[in-house]
Amino acid sequence: MAQEVRGVIAPGKDEPVRIETIVVPDPGPGEAVVRVQACGVCHTDLHYKQGGINDDFPFLLGHEAAGVVESVGDDVTDVAPGDFVILNWRAVCGKCRACLRGRPWYCFDTHNAKQRMTLTDGTELSPALGIGAFAEKTLVAAGQCTKVDPAVAPEVAGLLGCGVMAGIGAAINTGSVGRGDSVAVIGCGGVGDAAVAGARLAGAAKIIAVDIDDRKLDTARSMGATHTVNSRETDPVEAIRELTGGFGADVVIEAVGRPETYRQAFYARDLAGTVVLVGVPTPEMKLELPLLDVFGRGGALKSSWYGDCLPSRDFPMLIDLHLQGRLDLGAFVTETIQLDEVEKAFERMHRGDVLRSVVVL
Ligand SMILES: NC(=O)c1ccc[n+]([C@@H]2O[C@H](COP(=O)([O-])OP(=O)(O)OC[C@H]3O[C@@H](n4cnc5c(N)ncnc54)[C@H](O)[C@@H]3O)[C@@H](O)[C@H]2O)c1
Ligand SMILES: [Zn+2]
Ligand SMILES: [Zn+2]
Repeated sequence: MAQEVRGVIAPGKDEPVRIETIVVPDPGPGEAVVRVQACGVCHTDLHYKQGGINDDFPFLLGHEAAGVVESVGDDVTDVAPGDFVILNWRAVCGKCRACLRGRPWYCFDTHNAKQRMTLTDGTELSPALGIGAFAEKTLVAAGQCTKVDPAVAPEVAGLLGCGVMAGIGAAINTGSVGRGDSVAVIGCGGVGDAAVAGARLAGAAKIIAVDIDDRKLDTARSMGATHTVNSRETDPVEAIRELTGGFGADVVIEAVGRPETYRQAFYARDLAGTVVLVGVPTPEMKLELPLLDVFGRGGALKSSWYGDCLPSRDFPMLIDLHLQGRLDLGAFVTETIQLDEVEKAFERMHRGDVLRSVVVL
């Protein structure tokens, strides 16, 4: 029997979000229904609402979530009703060219639920990143459910489902930050601060946080930044070079997604260093660089998709580190809110007032 629950939809381009009754089908083969306990508000939800991702309105928003599996399709064996899970948007297929080469964190054919959730009039919904978790319950592919230690609070666990994993992974997976490295992070919102925390976890000796907002630099310091630079007042490339013996950082992580900050990242790294782009640019943005500098500076220019994470490997490990007191995921939760406050949370995010607002259900 399909169930009716409350959920937050984006009805059309730039229209305010609203609560609607959502019809959630029973899980079919390879699917699971999850009772959502918490879901963070991510910048990508706002991009969906603004029509910046695609035009498949109406969207069922929300994708940084944790909850409890309620029911599963007949053939599902990896998760069972009652399991506490974080939802991921990388349910790997095991069969594509990336998976077959042993690099499943790049999987090019990730799974989502086959059936669609709808409004009561039958209108099909597009769940954000194949999740749609600003809802009391949601239907996902079983592989999107990653079991973790239930001792963690849901509002903390859910954040690993997107932005915090993207940031930590940008440092430890994509950037391969190691002990003694110097690291600079440009843009210290939820993703950039997570990159700072990831760099600390990996043993970076120097972590330079760059932002245009002093409030963000204060939180970056509490996450492990050893130095901060307000790039509205100070040239960040010069400042980073000065703090690294005149050379630049070993790894520079760009967590804004703009050409001017990418250029800063490019020139603020040491010769043979690594630039990691985790910020997401928009389609009209262009970058121009002297090709000789691309050659002459050497090293690696990488992008980080979802922190190049493998949920089954990374989520339980990071939750364990959190529970041991070695990674303060709770510091990312600025406020907990109700389902009907998502629109207000978007405004607060836009003003830069929060790292993460988390809807608790
Ligand atoms: N690669 C991925 O898989 C992935 C996943 C989630 C989010 N993201 C992207 O990461 C980026 C950051 O997300 P977020 O949730 O942290 O957003 P956010 O809005 O919380 O943070 C952005 C930060 O950048 C700062 N900033 C803006 N312009 C700047 C500039 N010119 N110089 C320095 N700092 C500047 C802001 O003050 C803010 O602190 C976004 O582009 C988001 O879409 C990527
Ligand atoms: Zn695959
Ligand atoms: Zn997200």
